[in-house]
Amino acid sequence: MSAHVINGKELVGAYRTEIKDQVDRLIAQGVKPGLAVVIVGEDPASHVYVRNKNRACEEAGIHSEVYKLPEATSESELLALIAKLNADKAIHGILVQSPLPKQINEERVVEAIAPEKDVDCFHPVNVGNLMIGKPGPAPCTPAGVIEILKKVGVDIAGKHAVVIGRSNIVGKPMGILLLREHATVTTCHSRTSNLEEITSQADILIAAIGKPKVIKRRHVKPGAVVIDVGVNRLDTGKLSGDVDFDDVVDTASVITPVPGVVGPMTITILLRNTLEAAQRSAG
Ligand code: GUN
Repeated sequence: MSAHVINGKELVGAYRTEIKDQVDRLIAQGVKPGLAVVIVGEDPASHVYVRNKNRACEEAGIHSEVYKLPEATSESELLALIAKLNADKAIHGILVQSPLPKQINEERVVEAIAPEKDVDCFHPVNVGNLMIGKPGPAPCTPAGVIEILKKVGVDIAGKHAVVIGRSNIVGKPMGILLLREHATVTTCHSRTSNLEEITSQADILIAAIGKPKVIKRRHVKPGAVVIDVGVNRLDTGKLSGDVDFDDVVDTASVITPVPGVVGPMTITILLRNTLEAAQRSAG
């Protein structure tokens, strides 16, 4: 059996159209959603991400401002910009692209963003609200994975979902969001001693490891749904996920190729979080 390979262009494109319709409705009520993206330094991959986020905003009708600051920017200069954006009524979402240069304390920067404008859901107030199920933003990548599962028609409730990875921005919140959908959740990580034994019991397997092609056919239960969050640059220059796609495609029932599905859906959730922040600000 060959897996259903998710078509990102179709699935994500349709969702962006839905969001654009909602943006248009809010604009008709007199509120144009606005996102400020701040990037510090010259990291090439970060500049590509920021360009993609900016373009997605423009296509969805969301006002977007990009602040490109030099590598030598001090923490107090960045905090002053955040204070200005916090007070700006035209801006509903603020995203400070990570990583930041080493003279800047990332935690202090995240905590300086007004929680109601924190479209990444990195602020401790929003992380806490997510944990206890209060309304608010959800982090873009894990919320995007849930959206993919729902759009493809995967029934999450009662299923065994195994997440590989325990980062604050993907693995941990992924587990919380899957619990909210009534999955039975197991989290594996670099110190898990019997990885294959656990992953091969997963009905839904989510790989967020950060190493190319670690997940092979032997890790995957026949018929499992496999979502690949990894984006790894190979020596050849090509991008690869954490899953060995060619090895797994005949075992899984559904699989996401890399690139093309989780990345674009992550940006789509950023649009949704910005729209929802603007809707909340409009009362
Ligand atoms: N760098 C890599 N991914 C992200 C993200 O989702 N948000 C921010 N702010 N920075 C990132």
